[in-house]
Amino acid sequence: MLITDKTEFDKHITRTLISEEELRAKIKEAGEMLSREYEGKPLLLVSILKGAFIFLADLSREITIPCEIDFMSAKSYFEGTSSSGNVEITMDLKHDIKKYHVLIVEDIIDTGRTLAEIIKMLKVREPLSLKVLTLLDKPERRVVDLKADWSLFTIPDNFVIGYGLDCGEYYRNLPIIAEYSE
Ligand code: IMP
Ligand code: MG
Repeated sequence: MLITDKTEFDKHITRTLISEEELRAKIKEAGEMLSREYEGKPLLLVSILKGAFIFLADLSREITIPCEIDFMSAKSYFEGTSSSGNVEITMDLKHDIKKYHVLIVEDIIDTGRTLAEIIKMLKVREPLSLKVLTLLDKPERRVVDLKADWSLFTIPDNFVIGYGLDCGEYYRNLPIIAEYSE
């Protein structure tokens, strides 16, 4: 459905969950931590489109050591409201990751199924190391055994939008993380 009406758009944004200031502070801290953690190592930031595009843009600018950036795109097939674990890579990385310490930069881990599949695929390519940093984590929703190496915010089981995350492709451009309501 195409939304052009601002009132219709705004009425679903109920509550600010994470403000711009909170996002900025946590991401700055994460950038500093990563700059220490990966110093002297060939670092490749891997982002899975589209949800993490804003997070990656902000996080990468808080990283003060050399790093490279690559993208992949995956389509998760959904059963009702949660992902099925059936993941198709629709755009692969351009890098051969064998020579890199790979850090997957994710927007949100919900059931964990999408990321678990991607990790499996990338491990086969034998990177020097493979770790995950996620902006948001909904641990209550997890159905596979997967824990991010770093998670910036743990949130309850409510659907959220903004800062890259969408509902029906809208709201990615909100500068905050907000709760969505029907
Ligand atoms: P998974 O359930 O961990 O496989 O998550 C699959 C994908 O669902 C995530 O990468 C997000 O794109 C999307 N997703 C999960 N929870 C939310 C949410 O609260 N808001 C927006 N997208 C979500
Ligand atoms: Mg995602």
